Amino acid sequence: MCGIVGYIGKRQASEICLEGLRRLEYRGYDSAGIAAIRDGQLEVRKVVGKLVNLTAALEEAPLLGNVAIGHTRWATHGKPSVANSHPHLSCDGRIAVVHNGIIENYSQLREQLQAEGHRFQSETDTEVMPHLVEKYYEGDLRQAVAQAIEDLEGAFAFGVICADSPEQLVAARRFSPLVVGIGEGENYIASDMGAIRPKTDKVYVIGDDELALITTDDIELTDLALNPIEREIFTIPWPPEAAEKGGHKHFMHKEIHEQAEAIHNCLAGRLSSPDKPIVLEGLGLSDQEIRDLRKVVFTACGTAYHAGMVGRSVTEAWARVPSEVDLAAELQVRDPVMLDNTLAVVVSQSGETADSLLALRDMKSKGAKIVSLLNVVDSSIARESDGVIYIQAGPEIGVASTKAYTLQVLTTQLMALYFAEVRQSAAPDQIRTLKEALLALPDQVAELLAREDDVKQVATHYYHSPNSLFLGRGVNLASALEGALKLKEISYIHAEGYSAGEMKHGPIALVEPDLFTVAIVVKGLVYEKMIGNIQEIKARQGPVIGVANDGDNVIADQCDDMLWVPPCPELVSPITIAIPLQLLAYHIADMRGEDIDQPRNLAKTVTVE
Ligand code: F6R
Repeated sequence: MCGIVGYIGKRQASEICLEGLRRLEYRGYDSAGIAAIRDGQLEVRKVVGKLVNLTAALEEAPLLGNVAIGHTRWATHGKPSVANSHPHLSCDGRIAVVHNGIIENYSQLREQLQAEGHRFQSETDTEVMPHLVEKYYEGDLRQAVAQAIEDLEGAFAFGVICADSPEQLVAARRFSPLVVGIGEGENYIASDMGAIRPKTDKVYVIGDDELALITTDDIELTDLALNPIEREIFTIPWPPEAAEKGGHKHFMHKEIHEQAEAIHNCLAGRLSSPDKPIVLEGLGLSDQEIRDLRKVVFTACGTAYHAGMVGRSVTEAWARVPSEVDLAAELQVRDPVMLDNTLAVVVSQSGETADSLLALRDMKSKGAKIVSLLNVVDSSIARESDGVIYIQAGPEIGVASTKAYTLQVLTTQLMALYFAEVRQSAAPDQIRTLKEALLALPDQVAELLAREDDVKQVATHYYHSPNSLFLGRGVNLASALEGALKLKEISYIHAEGYSAGEMKHGPIALVEPDLFTVAIVVKGLVYEKMIGNIQEIKARQGPVIGVANDGDNVIADQCDDMLWVPPCPELVSPITIAIPLQLLAYHIADMRGEDIDQPRNLAKTVTVE
C-alpha cells in the first residue's frame, strides 16, 4: 500500500525519486522519505505528512547523488512519525531500505537481531531488513539481500542501496508489486508502473522471490539462489499523460469524465453490433466448460465487490448458472460447498489486493477454475488466474474508484451475455436487446456527464448534512452500496447503503430531517416497491433525492431533488446510475473542501490483509 521508487543513473536521483513519489502518493501519504548516496556517504530526508513536506525538506537541504530510493507510506506497524517512515537504515547507517508489504515474522527477527547487538530506531516491521542485510553483508549487496529474504515471512517489495556499492541498486519482491524501469544509461524501480511512465515505457515485471541487480547500464534478474532469470520486456500500454490530471481539479473528476470513452474502449473488439456474437479474449474457458458450469462465485473487495454483486445478478439472470458473490475477506474464512465445474471470478482494479488474491488461492485449492476481471496488466492476480479479462480503463489514480467500477460492471455484463450465447440460456431477442443497451452506453454516459451542473446543484442542498441513506433493491442494491461508499470515503459524511426491502427492519429509525436519502427508483422489477419506500421516508420528514428515468414525474412529484438517468434495461442500469452518484459524492466532498484524491486513512491498493 506504500509506494516505492528508485533511480540509478547520471541525474540527481532524489529529484527523480520525488517526481515518482508524487505519482505514487495515492498509495499512501502519511509520511515520506528518500535516501541517496553521494561521495560514499548515505544521506536521508524523512518527514511526516504529505509529499509537500518532503519537497520543502529537500529544498531546504537538498540530497545529491546519482542513486536513491524513495518511499511514501501508509502506516501498518507503528504510527506515522519520522522514525517510522522509510527509508530505514542499518546500525552503521550505510544500508538503506524502502519496503512495501508486511513482514509477518518481524518481532521474532527483531528480538534475534537485538540479541546480536543491532539497535532499532523505529516500531516498524521493515526495519529488520536493513539490519538483516547488514548482518549478511560481506561486500556483495545482492548476496546479502538474497540471504536476508530467506529469513522473511510475509509480503514485500524492497529497494536497497548501500554506501559501499553506490553503483548498485538492488530490488526484490514476494507478493507485493514491483517493476524495474529500463532507461538508457539509467534505470528505475517502482511499486507501480505509473510512477516511472513519463521516463520509460519499458519495464521488467519482477516475480515472487526474484531479485534485480540494477546499475546504470545493466539489469540482472535472478532467483534467490542468484540463478539468472530471462524475462521479456513489458511495454506499458498507456501514454505518459494518462497519469496526469489533464486540467481537472482532481484525478477523481478526470476519471469520472473518462467513462464514456472508457466504456467505448472496453466494448471495442468485444461487442460491435447487436447481430454479432460477443468476443471475449483471455477468458480461458472452452464452450464446453461454459456449458458445464454448475456454479459461478464472484469475489472481490470494496467497490469491486459491488461490481461482483452486479455480476452475480446478471450471470444468474442471463446465463442461468447458480451464482454467488462474497467479499474476498469472508470467502477465505468460509468453507463453501464446492461443486464440480465451479468458476470463481475475481474482480480487482489493481490485481494486487491481498484479500482477493488469498480468496483466489483458496478457491483454486478447492478445485475452482479462476477468471479475473482486472485493470492493471500483469499483476499478481493475473499471474495466478486461468483466464483474465482486462477492463481496459487505463490508469486509475483517484483513490475512490470510479471508471474501474463502471468497467468492472460492464465486463461482468459482457461475460454473462457471452455465457448466455454459449449456453443458449436466453432468447435471441433478449440477447439482442441487451447488446443494443450495452452499445448505447457510451452515448448515454456522455449525456449524463454533460448534466454535471444539475448534479452539482443538488449537491449544494446536502453538502452540510451529517447523515445519508442510499436505498436500492435488486441489481441496484449494488448501486446503493456503491453510492454510499463513494460518498463516505471522500466526504466523510456518514452514509449507509441498504436494500430498500430492509428499510422497515431497522434503518427507518434513522429517518429525520437531517438525514437525506438517495432512492434508486428506475423502471423495472422493484419500481412500485421503491415508491412505497419513498412515501414512508417522506411521511417522516426525511428529504429524498430520487434517481429515476428521464421524465418520470411520478417520482419527481414525491422527491425533493432528482438525479435523472436515461432509460435502459434494469440489469444494465447500474452503469448509468453510477455516474450521477459519483458526481454527487465528488461535488459534496469538494464543497466540504476535502482532499478528494487522497482521503484520510485510505490507500489505493490494499496489499495487506
Ligand atoms: C473504493 C475503492 C476500494 C477498492 C478495493 C478493491 O472506492 O476503490 O473499495 O475497490 O480496495 O481494490 P481492487 O479493485 O484494486 O482489488
